Amino acid sequence: MRHLKLICLIGDPVEHSISPTIHNEVFRELNLNYIYLAFRVVGDDLEHAVRGLKALGASGFNVTLPHKSAIIKYLDEVVPEAMFVGAVNTVVNEGGRFVGYNTDVVGVINTFKSLNIRLSGTSAAVLGAGGASRAVLYALASSGSSEVFLINRTFERAVSLAEEFSVKFPDVRFRPTGLTVSGLRVAVERAQILVNATSVGMYPSVDESLIPPELLRRDLIVFDVVYNPVETKLLRDARLRGATTVDGVHMLVHQAAAAFKLWTKVEPPVDFMFNVAYSSLR
Ligand code: ATR
Repeated sequence: MRHLKLICLIGDPVEHSISPTIHNEVFRELNLNYIYLAFRVVGDDLEHAVRGLKALGASGFNVTLPHKSAIIKYLDEVVPEAMFVGAVNTVVNEGGRFVGYNTDVVGVINTFKSLNIRLSGTSAAVLGAGGASRAVLYALASSGSSEVFLINRTFERAVSLAEEFSVKFPDVRFRPTGLTVSGLRVAVERAQILVNATSVGMYPSVDESLIPPELLRRDLIVFDVVYNPVETKLLRDARLRGATTVDGVHMLVHQAAAAFKLWTKVEPPVDFMFNVAYSSLR
């Protein structure tokens, strides 16, 4: 048998992740000698798990909740973008050294690029102030958005995030906004792009959305990072109001494609990955 190269996912929980399916189907399709395995790793075991993967000579791994930030201190190097975002979701074994990347950022950038959505000069409204939001903000700011409303339930988190991002991206106007009726109205009315980067709407709470449907309109692009369900309540409301909708499978696939490229140096078959993702989610 050919020598198999090992790629892993570590997180807690990992049972419902479709990353193993996506990557293993691609490895089979392209006849690459890799295997992708998911391991549940609880918090206290993270350091041991990383050392174990190194001892085993793993080619790389994905990191998911709750370890995306904690992993940083166990890596040999973290690229500046991932360091600023404060989260690593992909690690590559580069000659025995574990190097951390954040492919969520390029996942968001490529989501918009692939749909011919130009971000330059746009005003965007982003819901959430956690790790997903930081990747989205980084993508928008580095792709030329000129104004970003940072909407969060805990207003102070939006304020400190805005301060931090303003230092990194001085040309972008970050506007911290509370999750209030008036705050939402001002932000969504000005925005061309609305992004939900919270977990609201995710299975099993499929009837929840933070945006009153009447704020949605035809010339708005609505992107939800939640991919389960594929059409969240927010996206359904947006579709019914005539808006352009972008589901979370886009970010999922584009971040996976970027990770795949980093590990294998092979050009990822993005359309094939979409097919695998949609058929395992539907
Ligand atoms: P992640 O790293 O996945 O983004 P996180 O750091 O827990 O996760 O952040 C979750 C985000 O979703 C936060 O912005 C959170 O708002 P708070 O900062 O106020 O906690 C937001 N969020 C989660 N559930 C929410 C809800 N039911 N209503 C409004 N915002 C919610």
